Amino acid sequence: MMDIRSRLEFAKKIVRNSSAEAVKAFSNWKDLTITAKGAQDFVSEVDKSTELYLRARIQEAYPDDGIVGEEFGRTNESANLQWVLDPIDGTANYISGVPAWCIVIAIVEHQQILAGVIYDPNCDELFSAQLNEGAFLNDRKLSPKKEFTIAASTLSLGYSGRTTTKPVVAVINEIFKLGGVFSRNGSGALSLAHVADQRYSGYIEHHMNAWDCLAGQLIVKEAGGLIEDQNAQEMIALGGRVIVGWPGVFEQLLKMANDHFGEDDLVRSALGKSTHP
Ligand code: IPD
Ligand code: CA
Ligand code: CA
Repeated sequence: MMDIRSRLEFAKKIVRNSSAEAVKAFSNWKDLTITAKGAQDFVSEVDKSTELYLRARIQEAYPDDGIVGEEFGRTNESANLQWVLDPIDGTANYISGVPAWCIVIAIVEHQQILAGVIYDPNCDELFSAQLNEGAFLNDRKLSPKKEFTIAASTLSLGYSGRTTTKPVVAVINEIFKLGGVFSRNGSGALSLAHVADQRYSGYIEHHMNAWDCLAGQLIVKEAGGLIEDQNAQEMIALGGRVIVGWPGVFEQLLKMANDHFGEDDLVRSALGKSTHP
């Protein structure tokens, strides 16, 4: 039996440690060196240095495990345990001085997500979960409290250049028709963590990559929320749609996705890409 608990504790430690440099550079965000990867898709030197830091720590501690990171691709693909890293989720915010970004690690075994960590250094909020062991915000256990409706809550949604705008507009229309409102905070992982803590009633996005969503999906599920389960290996290969939420909202988001998220709306050439394959 692989020791997931100690890996989760290790992941919590390294996301906190890696955030020190990222926070320092963020205080001088106008001086960051930024490169465009695609339409509205940017990378700063801090995305890269944070991922390199995380990769080095994981390799030292768990040399037999595999690593998949947004900026530096995949190593040790055949390993049972894979660490899936997003060094900065919410890069558009990070490079613009908006304090809505986080550092994300998921640990998966075959198709299953075993552990997830999302750290928001701006609020010192560390969301974490281990499969079947519950979800936590720092030391507080997250637990289901409420029944939600779309008309009396705020949804969160995401979109990127990996899809056309058509399904996004259709979903926003549906939300308005149901009397709902939405937020798009530009950090999908942080939004998923906020669903887990019931700040948002749900999250919907047509396409996310594994590093954006696996940790958050597990955290929502372990908090007692509902998620559309995805095969972690398929997510690592190509990404996929992400729908999570609380009862009363989740079912309606699922219907919106089934009605509006078409295969034709995916920009195939952009799927599953990390910067250094
Ligand atoms: C993106 C953000 C965004 C989401 C996209 C992600 P990045 O990640 O999470 O909110 O809508 O799907 O790609 O580029 O900031 O790491
Ligand atoms: Ca991301
Ligand atoms: Ca990122």
